Amino acid sequence: MLLPLFTEYEKEHPTDRQPLPDRYLGLSDEEMDRRIATAKASLGPRLVILGHHYQRDEVIKFADHTGDSFKLARQIGAHPEAEFIVFCGVHFMAESADVLSAPHQQVILPDLAAGCSMADMADLEQLETCWQLLIASGCDPARIIPVTYINSAAAIKAFCGEHGGVVCTSSNAAAVLKWAWARGDRILFLPDQHLGRNTARKSGVPLEEMMVWDPNEPYEALDSAVVNRVRIILWKGHCSVHTRFTVQQIANVRSQHPTVRVIVHPEVPLEVVQAADDSGSTEYIIKTITDSPLGSVWAVGTEIHLVNRLARRFRPDRTVLSLDAFGCLCSTMYRVSPNHLLWILESLVDGVVHNRITVPDDRKYWTKVALDRMLSIS
Ligand code: 13P
Ligand code: SF4
Repeated sequence: MLLPLFTEYEKEHPTDRQPLPDRYLGLSDEEMDRRIATAKASLGPRLVILGHHYQRDEVIKFADHTGDSFKLARQIGAHPEAEFIVFCGVHFMAESADVLSAPHQQVILPDLAAGCSMADMADLEQLETCWQLLIASGCDPARIIPVTYINSAAAIKAFCGEHGGVVCTSSNAAAVLKWAWARGDRILFLPDQHLGRNTARKSGVPLEEMMVWDPNEPYEALDSAVVNRVRIILWKGHCSVHTRFTVQQIANVRSQHPTVRVIVHPEVPLEVVQAADDSGSTEYIIKTITDSPLGSVWAVGTEIHLVNRLARRFRPDRTVLSLDAFGCLCSTMYRVSPNHLLWILESLVDGVVHNRITVPDDRKYWTKVALDRMLSIS
């Protein structure tokens, strides 16, 4: 069964997405499809559209390339001919694209309200506080390697680049942790405690060698005995979509479908990864299901647009179900609507650039260092 989304309701009830000119509201799906295709064709090779797997169908069908965060970051350097990179995803992805793009290219996010609640859980001031507390607890700053998930602001990435650290994605997190431990005694991992914990556990680190730091409780000094014992300090951040998946849901699906295999994204809590059969990035999830034998049954713990798309794509050869019976929607990914994409593309045809995303020049250098390190580790 495909879980219904809210497209019809939403057409009638605009939410907190970026307001559009009236003439882009209330259009039929057919008209939007036709006009997006026309604008795209008229821009030709001057335009490349990138689409993250969580984008809705009406948008992702216009992407020239789809992928997880790592694959899309790699696409940036592969299109020097494109003047405009329209990123159908969320803000931190567009920021990274701006840093990795060439000076003649402009990166555009169709809806400026498409952020990421996890990325918003870490800001530079908090990171500087955490760093000072670690130093005050006796850590040699040269031996702490800051590792930030790509789901973070450019300022955080720049800090990591400048302090010998790196960016990771869900697809290269294990390799990045290995890289970092080869260069220091311990890692400060932010902002997703779950990706950090899951990856460290998979890499053989016991829970006793991990600690959590809460950016909302920054007032107490760190216990230096604890800090000096641990190999990874986990920032207390999370994804509100992926933390909805539970061990109970896995038990339920296993009781209803005895042959089911459960695959989850590593942003889910540790106990859910441990109860599942497999875990990995969105691209990994797609590949694993694609390569599975005919007749396989899968329960997938990730964002509902991707799960629904896989269910449709593989029906009737394989069964793909959402692990959460109500579906987990990333409401910020959802903000990128076909209306916004149409407005962006028709404006480009008219020579007007809306929603350009730029990282300030003084931040670009170290952000790029951290992202280039990420791209070199897989
Ligand atoms: P990946 O597609 O890189 O696995 O990441 C998922 C995600 O949450 C993006 O925000
Ligand atoms: Fe951010 Fe979670 Fe949405 Fe990914 S799924 S963009 S981590 S809120």
